[in-house]
Amino acid sequence: MSNRYAIETENLKKTYKGKTHPTLNGFTLRIPYGSLFGLLAPNGAGKTTAINIICGLRKYDSGKVRIQGRDISAGMKQIRPLFGLVPQDIALFPTLTAYENLKIFGGLYGIEKPLLEKRIDQLLELFDLTESRHSFINRFSGGMKRRVNMIAGMLHAPEILILDEPTVGVDAQSRRMILEKLVEINRQGTTILFISHYLEEAQQICSQVAFMDNGSIISQGSPEHLIAEHNICDDLESVYLLLTGKRIRDNT
Ligand SMILES: Nc1ncnc2c1ncn2[C@@H]1O[C@H](COP(=O)(O)OP(=O)(O)OP(=O)(O)O)[C@@H](O)[C@H]1O
Ligand SMILES: [Mg+2]
Repeated sequence: MSNRYAIETENLKKTYKGKTHPTLNGFTLRIPYGSLFGLLAPNGAGKTTAINIICGLRKYDSGKVRIQGRDISAGMKQIRPLFGLVPQDIALFPTLTAYENLKIFGGLYGIEKPLLEKRIDQLLELFDLTESRHSFINRFSGGMKRRVNMIAGMLHAPEILILDEPTVGVDAQSRRMILEKLVEINRQGTTILFISHYLEEAQQICSQVAFMDNGSIISQGSPEHLIAEHNICDDLESVYLLLTGKRIRDNT
């Protein structure tokens, strides 16, 4: 058993009930401690399924998942606090304020009140939301909602932060801020798994990326290495299209 990886999956398989094709079919991924790791794949490739399994939120048919060397099949009790998951869909109460939402999420993590208030203040400041702390979520722009959604996933200062498409539906300014903050949080020691289908973002911020297609990882390495390895390509998007093909992927 290796303890070199913050997250390690081995030959994961998952077929949803009623589906003929597996969503995960030999999904093997190794995420080193301290990396800012991009998992990149077309729509419907199984990104959300994979991370939900990694976080213990979804069952799998076979294979292994280890977090910091510990197999999740032995129970999630000690593993769960290590994670922060920022879900793909905004999971906030629209008729409550940002602050009220964050108090509720912090309460779910069992964070003591004084510490929680300090964390909320720090993170609202980090994401430039201090002035809007007492405004209602349903008045927020898409970018502001995304930022509060992110804060909700990291109130307990997790060692591993997993973000499922955190920049979808936000404008260029919010996107840039989100990416900058992820780099900063990673530099402070948090391992980040960043799920995206925006290749230029991954090229900009990730230390390593993995491409996923047809239920498994088809290539992995640093963006520079992958570009150099495919010498007809001058950016990550070209490598990705070369490896995954240009067929449109609609959910079936
Ligand atoms: N609960 C479910 N029941 C049945 N099929 C599902 C379920 N969740 C996902 N799927 C199917 O599994 C496949 C992978 O879905 P998943 O959401 O994991 O992909 P994704 O890569 O996250 O997609 P997107 O880019 O749209 O977020 C899709 O074909 C989807 O329809
Ligand atoms: Mg998804």
